[in-house]
Amino acid sequence: MCGIVAYVGNRQVTPLLIEGLKRLEYRGYDSAGVAVVSADHGTQVCHSVGRVSVLDDKLNAEPDRFRATLGIAHTRWATHGEPSEANAHPHLGKTRDGHTIALVHNGIIENYASLRKYLEGKGHTFTSQTDTEVLAKLIAELYQPDNKKGGGLEKAVQSALREVTGAYAIAVVCDAEPHTLLCARKGSPLIIGIAEDAYVVASDAAAIISHTTQVITLDDYQVARLCAGPDDKLTTTGGPWAVDFRTTTIDNVPVTQQVSELEMDLQQIELGGYEHFMLKEIMEQPESLRNCFRGRLDHREGRVVLGGLSKYTRDLVRAKRFIVTAQGTAYHAGLIGEYLLEDLAKVPARAAYASEFRYRNPIIEDASVILAISQSGETADTLAALREARERGALALGVVNQVGSTISRETDAGVYLHVGPEIGVASTKAFVGQVAVLTLIALYVGRRKFLAADVLAHYIDQLEKLPDHIQTVLKQSDHIRDCVEKVVDRDNWLFLGRGYNYPVALEGALKLKEISYIHAEGMPAAEMKHGPIALIDEGMPVVFIAPRGSQYDKVISNIEEVKARGGRIIAVATEGDEEINRYADFVFRVPDVPEPLQPLVTVVPLQLLAYHGAVLRGQDVDKPRNLAKSVTVE
Ligand code: AGP
Ligand code: GLU
Repeated sequence: MCGIVAYVGNRQVTPLLIEGLKRLEYRGYDSAGVAVVSADHGTQVCHSVGRVSVLDDKLNAEPDRFRATLGIAHTRWATHGEPSEANAHPHLGKTRDGHTIALVHNGIIENYASLRKYLEGKGHTFTSQTDTEVLAKLIAELYQPDNKKGGGLEKAVQSALREVTGAYAIAVVCDAEPHTLLCARKGSPLIIGIAEDAYVVASDAAAIISHTTQVITLDDYQVARLCAGPDDKLTTTGGPWAVDFRTTTIDNVPVTQQVSELEMDLQQIELGGYEHFMLKEIMEQPESLRNCFRGRLDHREGRVVLGGLSKYTRDLVRAKRFIVTAQGTAYHAGLIGEYLLEDLAKVPARAAYASEFRYRNPIIEDASVILAISQSGETADTLAALREARERGALALGVVNQVGSTISRETDAGVYLHVGPEIGVASTKAFVGQVAVLTLIALYVGRRKFLAADVLAHYIDQLEKLPDHIQTVLKQSDHIRDCVEKVVDRDNWLFLGRGYNYPVALEGALKLKEISYIHAEGMPAAEMKHGPIALIDEGMPVVFIAPRGSQYDKVISNIEEVKARGGRIIAVATEGDEEINRYADFVFRVPDVPEPLQPLVTVVPLQLLAYHGAVLRGQDVDKPRNLAKSVTVE
């Protein structure tokens, strides 16, 4: 949900801002812009519609105008106002003494309408339809020259943020203070990188890692003032170059921040020879799953080790119910978690869309556990649902990939995925990681209730084989592409599965629709007969997840019902199952694994199906239209 990059230091800022935006472009990409500040040229601004490369070309056409060492930049995912140059960030405000405020923002200013009316009454002229612009103009309205009477940019930002409601991560500059960068957050992510001679601020670590691994993460309602410049402008130490930062609350109460070490390296966030991040992340699933399991499967002792939960083991064993809450792909993983917890841990569980759960006045009885599933750890609805349940007494656990993300910091405990940064907008390796961790949690709790030691040992043995099983499935990528090529022109697909593979059907449908723009619908295989079967027409592709298992014969019956009406059958089936060949037009093979572990292999052909379908249809796989990697607004 939009990417923010800002820099103050002693290097030319424009190329650094563009490099940072390109690393964050997966977060939103309908328009972009930069503002740079220098003592010579004041504030210079450039906006563009579309990809960051368009902005880069515009900046390169006027290199001298954008020569500076302080700047902010933004790649947008619009919430208020269409994607256009007028609505692109940075947005500007004019102070009473004629200086310019420039601001970039991730989030929503909920009381923007009333603020806009107030500011128009003060003579400010708005040029956009966005909510963000009011914040730039409010800071300008409240700005007092830093004449040692408590003025300056820092005070103006603090004062303005006390007046707004909603979510924000912002970076702000003013040409009255050409060595000072202000940033603040509430509800949207923001990280500050501390380099030797500069500060880099960004929405996530991908834009910081090439500068430094030393970071601080602001908490909600916190403001940071970052200064870097020639010493004679900043301090009296006499050194050639000085850097200095200060963090406070929006009420100007100083706060101290812990500096932490980024757990990421550049190679992880680069394409590494693949054409798309999505393909890279699909192909690295054997390795990412090994990383997810590392230290957590104790084969010798026959136990699952989840250190992050150890403090709450008794609570988990005594829990009377689990609520698994998430959005999108993470919700599909959560739905599998519901099945796993009831099947392996014999505890009542239900998955709930966070966006619904948070508003339904949920009943949270005692001994409840809320499990928030989120790759980014920043999804606004999932965060709100977590808070809602926690405030009502639930034990709050997180299953998150992004270390130090907001959701991970607001839980009582949790289990990180450790699958590495996921850049592709369509979630793949994170889904497999989420399902894997939910399997571990179900086994962890189950073993402390009714699960026999030998049964657990069997699951551990099977889990350890899964990375190699996934590797086997990945070898069918060319075969899957050849099959998809024969039906990729069809615009309506169904995905059907039963039991553990019903959520896999939902996930397969989401993957295909979100990157190829084909209308695909997932549902329980039995549900098809209750209406959707009317959709089946000659040649309609219907994907059945049909591995050997307790409901195999029922799935075969459903396949025959579709075949009788002319549908084209694509089946995900177990290696060695020859019977399926009698019914299916195309077959993708998966190794035989216990039913609770099937989603970890049956989802992989569907990821490849979606990927090849999108490529064959000429779509932008890593940046699908209208989407963003992390939905940090409601
Ligand atoms: C999945 O491919 C989508 N990108 C989207 O549904 C995503 O899973 C959802 O927005 C949840 O994101 P999160 O895991 O970061 O919370
Ligand atoms: N609400 C702001 C806008 O629509 C920011 C959106 C975002 O977070 O990208 O411009």
